[in-house]
Amino acid sequence: MTSVPISTTDFRALMRNVPGQVTIVAAGSPGQRSGLTATAVCALTDAPPTVLVCVNRRVVAHDTIIESGVFSINALAAGQDDIAVTFSGLPGIKGEDRFKSGTWGVGTSGAPILSGTVCTLECRIAGYHPAATHTIFFGEIIAGTAHEERDPLVYLRGSYLELPSSTPA
Ligand SMILES: Cc1cc2nc3c(=O)[nH]c(=O)nc-3n(C[C@H](O)[C@H](O)[C@H](O)COP(=O)(O)O)c2cc1C
Repeated sequence: MTSVPISTTDFRALMRNVPGQVTIVAAGSPGQRSGLTATAVCALTDAPPTVLVCVNRRVVAHDTIIESGVFSINALAAGQDDIAVTFSGLPGIKGEDRFKSGTWGVGTSGAPILSGTVCTLECRIAGYHPAATHTIFFGEIIAGTAHEERDPLVYLRGSYLELPSSTPA
């Protein structure tokens, strides 16, 4: 079997077929918050409960996460597409102004937390590691809430889709 190196364009064409849970990763104190839409988020281990998040070093929230030492992962629910668009940077809305989208509070860790999510995790940075254009953050979970009655929002083939969590009989 041979393998052929693929281009960035080829890679994107492949990865757009892999559905991703849409999250907002956020950090900072009110007035100085920043956040981004992120799908590069996954569980790493349950002992101790830890996730990993991959953030481009050029994203404003990258340095806010490091300076804060804590961050939140807010897994969006169906109907929160507008928040995902705002935090993706596409409308040109930056920094603190992004937090006018959605209802935000402050978690027990001090990180910004969003209402209406399917799951919100608060994390302490347990470590981070550079990887090409990105930094992989290891986040030890210090608080979390989940709403199983809400359906998640996923990103697939360039579109935000609602994933029904239960199928009618
Ligand atoms: C569906 C979707 C998923 C994304 N996932 C990530 C991600 O996992 N990591 C990342 O660094 N950027 C990701 N981005 C891009 C960032 O959201 C975007 O670059 C960032 O909001 C720009 O912020 P800035 O204007 O503060 O630099 C994603 C964008 C979209 C639309």
